[in-house]
This record gives sequence, structure tokens and C-alpha cells, in this order.
Amino acid sequence: ENIIFTGIQPSGRLTLGNYLGTMKYWKNFQKSSKCYFCIADLHVLTTSLKDRTYFLKRTILDTLSWYLACGIDYKKNIIFVQSHVPAHSQLYWILNCISYYGELSRMTQFKNQVFFKKKNINLGLFGYPVLMASDILLYQSNLILVGQDQKQHLEFTQKIAKRLNSIYGNIFIIPQIFIPIFGKKIMGLQNPLKKMSKTDKNQKNVIFLEDPVKISISKIQLSITDSDNPPRIVYDPQKKPGISNLLIIGSLLSDQKIEILEKKFLNKTYQQFKDWVSIVLKNFLKKIQNLYLYYRKDELKLYQILKNGSKIANNNAQNFLHKIQKKMNI
Ligand code: TYM
Repeated sequence: ENIIFTGIQPSGRLTLGNYLGTMKYWKNFQKSSKCYFCIADLHVLTTSLKDRTYFLKRTILDTLSWYLACGIDYKKNIIFVQSHVPAHSQLYWILNCISYYGELSRMTQFKNQVFFKKKNINLGLFGYPVLMASDILLYQSNLILVGQDQKQHLEFTQKIAKRLNSIYGNIFIIPQIFIPIFGKKIMGLQNPLKKMSKTDKNQKNVIFLEDPVKISISKIQLSITDSDNPPRIVYDPQKKPGISNLLIIGSLLSDQKIEILEKKFLNKTYQQFKDWVSIVLKNFLKKIQNLYLYYRKDELKLYQILKNGSKIANNNAQNFLHKIQKKMNI
């Protein structure tokens, strides 16, 4: 049986990038695998405390409701909040002691933060990938579902799992990574060379899952394309990043292959293409937002789901942590 792990930081409103990069696929895995869906609140503490953790109570429930709206069955799967399971922090320390300064300094996400943010470069940010490794390895997961930007962190997870195994004997399973071929990196609408991100200051770059339909359509309509004359609606991420990004979005939301869309929009204008993407997006958002609102209303039930999830997660995590500690004589 596969044991699957995935998670999202409840650091703000979820984006179309989060959905198309990974959440869209989650429900397919729940049929035949044991799945852990984590809400990674401890990771949020690495960001600027004042502006993010203030909202955590709300964003945890928001994130959970989006999980449910994506088709995750809370009766079949283990949905839980990271901080409700102390074993994550305990394994984190153990893994810290076999993680090297050099390899963590080479993490792109960390380097970008140092380069662009400059402020609040704390130890938690540096150890961010180690905490991810703890999340994953604690449940003996063998498959992890993520978008492209997390790939380097997961390769790091594989590396330190092997490292601990080589020191203490086989303890960890080495997890495989599932990253979808298309949608693994949805780009900003105003700047298609940069990934779409929850925390982008320019909101026109980002479609939030909770965006009112009108606003999301205006973002598509304003999105950057290119000045090819005559216009060409073809998939070419290098030369045509804006159009290619819209093609991926349209393709994944309509379940039609990119080649089919290229044929459909041969000799059509960018405006006609954007109008079509807008309709497809509108249909998608309407459907998923209805489900979201349905789940989000019932806070008592949401708390109950998290309580049940953390009970099972705690139980499984504690058992395995004990095994690790025993092997290490601590
Ligand atoms: P987070 O919250 O940044 O992102 C959640 C998931 O969404 C994917 N994603 C994207 N995919 C495609 N295009 C985009 N523009 C885009 N933006 C985000 C991410 O790749 C991710 O899969 N550290 C993780 C949460 C986490 C985790 C874990 C994940 C904590 N522990 C253990 C897996 C396993 C994070 O910050 O994701």
C-alpha cells in the first residue's frame, strides 16, 4: 500500500498555482492509498511573524475547507495540523544534526529569500527543508505530491533519509516524488517568468481560489502575452511564456490537451483566446467556491475533522518516533 504525504502552508489565500500544481491530483490518490494531508502551520512561523501568524486560526480553517472542496474525503484520509503533532519538531532536531550547512545554503528558496527579502533571515528559514523532511519521514511515506518549486527540498529529504539509514541501519523509507508534467509551475499573469505565489505583492499576478469571478476574469484579460504579428497561440514556454502559461491553465481546467487547443485557436486572436480561458476559469471557480463555502460554514465540524486527524497522526508518528529514538539510544 502506498503511503502518501503532502502539505500546504496556511500562509494566506490559496492560488490557482497551488491547485493546478498539486491539489488537483490529490483526490485521485485517496482511492488506493493511505494519505496524509498536512496543514503546515509551523512552516508559516518562518515568515514575518506579525503579518502571518496573526491570521493562522482563520487560514488553517480556510486551507482545510479548500482541501475538502478539492474532493478530499475526511473520512478516508488523515487531515491534520502540523503543530498538533509534537513528533514533527522532535524528529526535526534529530535530522538537524545530520543536515549540513553547505547543502542547506544551496537551497534555491533559501537563497532567494536571502537575496530578495534580506530581513528576518531566521534559523527556521534555513532549516525549512529539514522540517519538511521530518513531516515526510515520520509517516514512512513513499510518495510525496508537490509542485516543481518543492523538488529540491524533496531531493534533500531523500538524501538525509539515506544518510540516517547509513548511520543507524535501515530506518526510513526513501520517498518518491510525484510532480505533474503540466501545471507544475504556474507563472504570474503579469510576469510569466516568475511563479504564481500566494505572497506576491502584485495581486494581478495571482488568481486566488477565493477571487470573485469578475476579478479573476479581469486578471486573465489583463495578463501579459506577446507582440507576435500575426498572433500565434502555440505552446513555447521559452519564446512565449505568457501564452504558454494561459494554454496550460486552459488545458488543465478544461481537460483538453494543449495540441487540441492550439488547433482550436489557430488563426484566432489573443482576445478570443483570453475570452475562452475566462469562461473555463469562471466555470471552475464557481464550482469549487460553492463547495468551499459549504464546508467553510461549519466550523465545529472543521475542528472535529482536525481533532480526529491529529489523533491518528499523533498515534502513528509517536510510534515511529519511538522506534527511531530506540535505534539511536536516546
Ligand atoms: P506551499 O504552501 O508553498 O505550496 C503548496 C503546494 O503548491 C505548489 N505550488 C505550485 N505549483 C505550481 N505552480 C505554482 N505557481 C505553485 N505555487 C505553489 C507547491 O509546490 C506545493 O506543492 N513547504 C510546503 C508545504 C509542506 C510540504 C511538506 C509539502 C510542508 N511540509 C511535506 C510536501 C511534503 C510549501 O510551502 O508549500
